[in-house]
Amino acid sequence: MPQNKQIHLDNRPQGEAAVANFKLVQAQTPELSDGQVLVRHHFLSLDPYMRGRMNDAKSYAVPQPLGQVMGGGTVGEVVETKNPKFAAGDKVVGMGGWQEYSVVDGSQVGMLRKVDTAHIPLSAYLGSVGMPGVTAWYGLMKICEPKAGETVVVSAASGAVGSVVGQLAKARGARAVGIAGGPDKCAYVVNELGFDACIDYKAHGDAKSLYAALKDATPDGVDCLFENVGGIGLDAVLSRMNAFGRIALCGMIAGYNGLPVPISQPQLLLQSRLKLQGFIVSEHMEHWPAALTELGTLVATGKLKFRESVAQGIESAPEAFIGLLKGKNFGKQLVKLV
Ligand SMILES: NC(=O)c1ccc[n+]([C@@H]2O[C@H](COP(=O)([O-])OP(=O)(O)OC[C@H]3O[C@@H](n4cnc5c(N)ncnc54)[C@H](OP(=O)(O)O)[C@@H]3O)[C@@H](O)[C@H]2O)c1
Repeated sequence: MPQNKQIHLDNRPQGEAAVANFKLVQAQTPELSDGQVLVRHHFLSLDPYMRGRMNDAKSYAVPQPLGQVMGGGTVGEVVETKNPKFAAGDKVVGMGGWQEYSVVDGSQVGMLRKVDTAHIPLSAYLGSVGMPGVTAWYGLMKICEPKAGETVVVSAASGAVGSVVGQLAKARGARAVGIAGGPDKCAYVVNELGFDACIDYKAHGDAKSLYAALKDATPDGVDCLFENVGGIGLDAVLSRMNAFGRIALCGMIAGYNGLPVPISQPQLLLQSRLKLQGFIVSEHMEHWPAALTELGTLVATGKLKFRESVAQGIESAPEAFIGLLKGKNFGKQLVKLV
C-alpha cells in the first residue's frame, strides 16, 4: 500500500490562523477490508469554513480534532477496491481530507459519489458543480428569489460562491453587482463573468466612499444581498436595500480570524422591512440534486464560467489556506495532488 502524506491540525490558532498550526505527517495507507475503496486524491478543496473548525468553539460544525488529518472535500480516482459498487479508474468525489490518499467505506451512503468527467472537469466538482455552487444556488433561489429586473449584490464576487451567484442572477434576468478586492478581480467579474458592475472595495477604504460607489452601481437600489464577507460592505449595501429586500447571509469571512464584524445600523432591517436569513448548505441536502443538475448542465455547456487558484502538492495546503483567508486566491482555491 502507498505512502500517504497528510496535513494534521497540530495546534489551535490564537487570533489569526498560521502555517505553524499545521503539521506534515508521513503515514502508511492501511490494507483494505471488505467494502473499502482506496482513493488517490487529484484535488483537495480549501474552503473558508475550515477556519471555523480550527477553533474549539461552539458552532454548527464540530471542531477539527488536534493530531488528525484536516477534514476537507476531495476529488480523485479509485485505485484499489474491495467494494463491488466501485471499479479501479472510477472518478469520485468525497471528503477525503488534507492527504494524498484515503480509504473509504464505499457502502456508507454519501461517503463517495461517482462523477462523470466527460463534459465537466474533475476539479469543478469541488467548485461550481460542488458545495460552493450549491451554496450559491440555495441562497439565491431559496432565500433571495430574485425576479427579472431586480438588483442582486454579492460580496467576494470573484470567488467560488460569489462567481456562481452573479451568473445565476444574470441568467434569471436580474442586474448583478459584485463587490471584490482589487481591479483585476473586478475586471474579471464584469468582463468574463458578465456582471453588470463591480465595486473594488479596496479602492474605497471608508464607508462614505464605498457607499457612493455602490449608489452609482445600483441606481434602482438593491433587492437581494448575497453576503459572504460582513463589515463595511454589508453596512453599505444595507443602506441601499429596497423595501422588502432579502439578504442571504452565507458567510462573514472578514470576521473568521477573530475581528469583530458589527452591523452599524441594524434599524435598517426594520425600516426597510428586510428578510435576513443565515443558512448552512449541508442542512439542505434535499435541494442538492436539483442544484447539481442545473449547475452541471450550465458548466458542461459553457454557460457557467469559473476560475481556479491551484496550489501544487499537499505540502502547499497550509500556506494556500492562509492565503485564502486574506483574499490571495482568485477563484476557487484548490490543491493539486497528482
Ligand atoms: N453558509 C454556507 O453553507 C457556506 C458554504 C460555502 C461557503 N460559505 C461562505 O461563503 C463565503 C465565500 O466562500 P468561497 O468558498 O466562495 O471563498 P472565495 O470567495 O473563493 O474566497 C474567499 C474570498 O473572500 C474574500 N475575503 C477574504 N478575507 C476577507 C476579508 N478579511 N475581508 C473581505 N474579504 C475577504 C476574498 O475575496 P476579495 O479579494 O474579493 O476580498 C477571498 O478571495 C465565505 O464566507 C464562506 O464561509 C458559506
